[in-house]
Formats: sequence, structure tokens, C-alpha cells
Amino acid sequence: MSQLYDCTHMSPEALKTEMAFDLKNDAATRAFGARLSAYLNAGDTLCLTGDLGAGKTTLSRGLIRSLSPKTTEVPSPTYTLLQTYSAPDFDIWHFDLYRLKTPSEIWELGMEDAIYDGLTLIEWPEQMGNLLPDGTLDIDIRFAGAGRKALLSLTPAWKARLHDL
Ligand SMILES: Nc1ncnc2c1ncn2[C@@H]1O[C@H](COP(=O)(O)OP(=O)(O)OP(=O)(O)O)[C@@H](O)[C@H]1O
Ligand SMILES: [Mg+2]
Repeated sequence: MSQLYDCTHMSPEALKTEMAFDLKNDAATRAFGARLSAYLNAGDTLCLTGDLGAGKTTLSRGLIRSLSPKTTEVPSPTYTLLQTYSAPDFDIWHFDLYRLKTPSEIWELGMEDAIYDGLTLIEWPEQMGNLLPDGTLDIDIRFAGAGRKALLSLTPAWKARLHDL
């Protein structure tokens, strides 16, 4: 007898799995960013969420310095909203949207070009509303005692790519 499966619950959200990493200090957050950087390509978008001071810029700093070793300073884009860097194979676009006034302001910042062929890191992605692209790698950083915990929420494609992270 054939069986009919009810797949109505298989929404993109339901298919996501989580990976968690303990980050005991600032250096561990930077090291995690550096480790993650080896898995990333042009066209990837990372959404970094977490409260003020969680460590989103610190993770970005480790990631950017690893891909662009000549970069000495990775300032927080809190006031500029965007800082860009060159890696050998692509540009890195580091956004902090905390001070964005309206979601559509992202187009003036060149977000379209970033998403098309850059590596895009977005702090405070909530500010983009429903303009966020599909298939982002979502990393939420939580306070955990004196340190932090990074929670990765993975689509099946990201789970396959990061399985040995
Ligand atoms: N794993 C960790 N344990 C303890 N402190 C950390 C850790 N990671 C980063 N920090 C520290 O947390 C502070 C804030 O970090 P950071 O500026 O990266 O936060 P942020 O999430 O980018 O904040 P904002 O929302 O203001 O942009 C820094 O002093 C940094 O050194
Ligand atoms: Mg920051």
C-alpha cells in the first residue's frame, strides 16, 4: 500500500538545524570568525544578531583579518554603516545597520552589489525588514557568563557546507 506523507510542516524554518559554539573570551570570538572564514565564498551573506556588545564586530574582525591579512584595522561600522575590504577572490562588505533610518536606505549603501558578488556581513539585519535575501547564514551571539555562545541556525545547504566546522 502506498503511503502519503504530510509535508505541510516542512517550511524553510522547520528544516533548519542549530550548531552552538562556546566562546570564552574576545580572542575565542575572533578565532571562531577566522575558522569560519575558510568556509565562505563570494555571494554569501552572514546575518549577525545579538544584543549590543554581544560580539558581532569581534567575530567579523577575526573573519576579515583572516581573509584579508594586510588589513590592520577593522573598525566597527556603527557610524559609517559600512566598511569594505578586499580579499584575494572577492570584496568583503561589513554593514552595521543599527543606525539605519529606513530599510530602503540599504540600496544607497550598495547592498545589491554586496549580495551579488561580495561576501556580506550584516550586524543588526533586523533593520532590513523583509528586504533580507534568502539563504543567509544566521549567527546569533548570546551572553554566557563572562563569555559568549554563538548559535548558528543552518539551512540544509549551510549544514552540509559547515558539517566539519
Ligand atoms: N567571547 C567573548 N567573551 C567576552 N567578551 C567578548 C567576547 N567576544 C567579544 N567580547 C567583547 O565584547 C565587547 C563588545 O564586542 P563587539 O563590539 O564585537 O559587540 P557588537 O555585538 O558588535 O556590539 P554592537 O551591537 O554595539 O555593534 C568587546 O569589548 C569585546 O572584546
Ligand atoms: Mg558591532
